[in-house]
Amino acid sequence: MQFRFVQFSIDDGIARIIINRPEVLNALNIAAGDEIIKVTHSLKKERGVHALIISGIGGNFAAGADIVPMMNASPLEARELTFNRAYNSIENLDLPVIAAISGYALGGGLELALACDIRICSADAKMGLPEIKLGIFPGAGGTQRLPKIIGAGRAKEMIFTGVSVDAKRALEIGLVNSIAEGDVVEEAFRMAGIFRSLSPAALGAAKRAVNFGLGSDLQAGIRFEEEVWTGCFSTEDQREGMKAFSEKRKPEFTGK
Ligand code: COA
Repeated sequence: MQFRFVQFSIDDGIARIIINRPEVLNALNIAAGDEIIKVTHSLKKERGVHALIISGIGGNFAAGADIVPMMNASPLEARELTFNRAYNSIENLDLPVIAAISGYALGGGLELALACDIRICSADAKMGLPEIKLGIFPGAGGTQRLPKIIGAGRAKEMIFTGVSVDAKRALEIGLVNSIAEGDVVEEAFRMAGIFRSLSPAALGAAKRAVNFGLGSDLQAGIRFEEEVWTGCFSTEDQREGMKAFSEKRKPEFTGK
């Protein structure tokens, strides 16, 4: 599948999106958002994809949403400029999504990473939500997802001051899962390799349960977990996983 602002590929069960606007440090325009939506639609139809890795070309993840089309937008036009549909489509994918962050992940770029399940960054990464300095505030899920990831106080500090954090601080506050020792994309592939060896059906179910709980009260979350968990017992992967355990061999999961 050929796109203009993102590169998309699937190799050996691992899908990749590479944001591709290096001349503006991968600032995301709406066309890029639409391309991300098309990628997620096609991934929903694919079997045998175990993880998605999102990164940017040229040493940066993404330096935000493209400011240029926003400059003279009316409120009605601004509604067309949010990335919520694109980022929700990433969050709702039934497979683990890893953001491999190098260089800048700012504004809408960081908000894309927040919609991913796991964030790994390189030692040179700079992450922040600088929108407040532009007279607006983060509007692609940042005010909603960031507090859930790093807590309200720290999220408000980042959103209210617009000050970026470096890799070390991002790890301290739980914004990233880890700092890659070497190449961040290679590190993401290492993690994706773990997912490749597991049951896609169980991984998808686990993701749905966690995500549901993040948007609901505890008891509703527990009821949802029970539904999804018991549903695992209708899969071949559950039978295979437990049979392999009793036979002391590695399971061969099929996602069925
Ligand atoms: N939207 C549109 N263009 C952007 C952009 C964005 N979010 N981020 C960077 N660019 C463009 C710059 O305008 C510049 O274009 P030019 O070469 O035509 O002048 C090019 O990318 C390179 O950026 P530049 O600012 O020259 O690089 P730098 O290394 O000096 O600074 C940043 C890097 C990331 C600190 C700076 O580009 C920046 O602050 N970007 C905006 C970040 C932001 O506010 N994001 C939230 C948007 S809602």
